Amino acid sequence: MKVILLIAHLMAIATATGMTIANYVNIRIASGEKGDRRAALVYLRRVLGRFADVVVAMIWITGLALWWTLPAEQGVSSWMHMLLFFAVTMTVCHGLARMTAGTMVRTGDTSLYPRMELLVSGVWISQLLAIIFAVLAVHG
Ligand code: HEM
Repeated sequence: MKVILLIAHLMAIATATGMTIANYVNIRIASGEKGDRRAALVYLRRVLGRFADVVVAMIWITGLALWWTLPAEQGVSSWMHMLLFFAVTMTVCHGLARMTAGTMVRTGDTSLYPRMELLVSGVWISQLLAIIFAVLAVHG
């Protein structure tokens, strides 16, 4: 059971990190485009954003389930606390990026592109740090 959960957890993480980089490249390109080309990139981002909500939920569900399988006497290491901290920052940055994207679609305010870029970078850096601390928590 634990192996299946770990496989699902790692699949969700691989999907999330790949999507985050794709989104970052999309934002960088879209900020310099206009008209139909920009509209197509915004549409792609909106679709990927909704898919990302499910992937982030899968990371939390499988991560918490894996945590539940750990023996109680093992306790919670400081690496695990760091992993959880960056899982939270990843989720907060994702939520704020989704809200900012919604505002941009509603108001057409393109001055929010730098904020989007910062938030998506926050998602990606948090994911990389969470991976480092997860490996340290298990093998460190
Ligand atoms: C959302 C809350 C999360 C919880 C509660 C959680 C919990 C866990 C637990 C308990 C394990 C250890 C499984 C074992 O003993 O073999 C694990 C493994 C792992 N987690 Fe998470 N995780 C979370 C989020 C994340 C995030 C956001 C990432 C990275 C983007 C991540 C990356 C990993 C990796 C790479 C492993 C495998 C480590 C290894 O086997 O070397 N986790 N996670």
